[in-house]
Amino acid sequence: MAYETIIVEIAEGVALITLNRPDALNALNSQLLRELATAVEKADASDKVRCIVLTGSDKAFAAGADIKEMADKTFVEMYRENFFGAETDRFIKTRKPIIAAVSGYVLGGGCELAMMCDFIIASDTAKFGQPEINLGVMAGLGGTQRLTRFVGKSKSMEMHLTGRFMNAEEAERSGLVSRVVPVKKLKEEVMSAANKIAEKSLLATMAVKDAVNCAYETTMAEGINYERRLFQSLFATEDQTEGMASYIEKREPQFRDK
Ligand code: HXC
Repeated sequence: MAYETIIVEIAEGVALITLNRPDALNALNSQLLRELATAVEKADASDKVRCIVLTGSDKAFAAGADIKEMADKTFVEMYRENFFGAETDRFIKTRKPIIAAVSGYVLGGGCELAMMCDFIIASDTAKFGQPEINLGVMAGLGGTQRLTRFVGKSKSMEMHLTGRFMNAEEAERSGLVSRVVPVKKLKEEVMSAANKIAEKSLLATMAVKDAVNCAYETTMAEGINYERRLFQSLFATEDQTEGMASYIEKREPQFRDK
């Protein structure tokens, strides 16, 4: 499929997906979200992909949902279309890890999309915000829920109510991003993290993602039990045998995802 709003490049087990609407600071419209959902589904199903990186430009990861597309919509249209709901449901079902590599504006739906990824690496130019309040609306792609879990109620509430932006340093301090790197090194650092993930057993990688995400959905006791069962189940894999043998034999493991 030829994409018009994203670029997909696959190399060495990593699918690099770049949001590509430069004239609109990568604002998310229906076409982009449809293409993105399709691209991650394909990457999830492809034997050539073991980790996904989602990025934008130096100027903007994404400046939010496309205001020009939304401006004239009625409640009935938004409700019947379940605006962006189906596409984001498809996106978050991805079982392989997705890293968000963000620079510049990470606003509104753009911030919410970054938070749907498994972790965020930010450049030192990144600016995060949920400015929907300035448009007379509010976050609609999970921002009130995910940002609150990342940074706590007080900061989340302030961000959503005032629309103020958070810089990369504050975002790291608050737990929104895993780390901050100089903008010129963002791609190199993120690809190095993605390549590292791509070298592991995909079975263990997917189990980690599943278990960590479970922390958001269950009680501690249920989550720990789930983790224990997943851990035990990895002993049914050849990759566990290989991984532990390679350690004992002091050599690099050869994982085969079996
Ligand atoms: C549509 C957008 C856009 C957006 C930028 N553009 N953000 N178009 N939707 N969200 C377009 C501008 O219209 C302009 O095109 C071009 O990108 C460059 O933007 P400028 O404003 O000229 O750039 P700058 O002065 O650098 O300001 C950058 C900015 C500002 C601070 C990011 O563009 C801005 O405030 N954007 C809106 C941010 C926002 O409110 N996001 C939340 C959206 S609501 P033209 O052709 O006009 O020159 C949302 C809801 C999610 O995300 C839930 C959905 C279910």
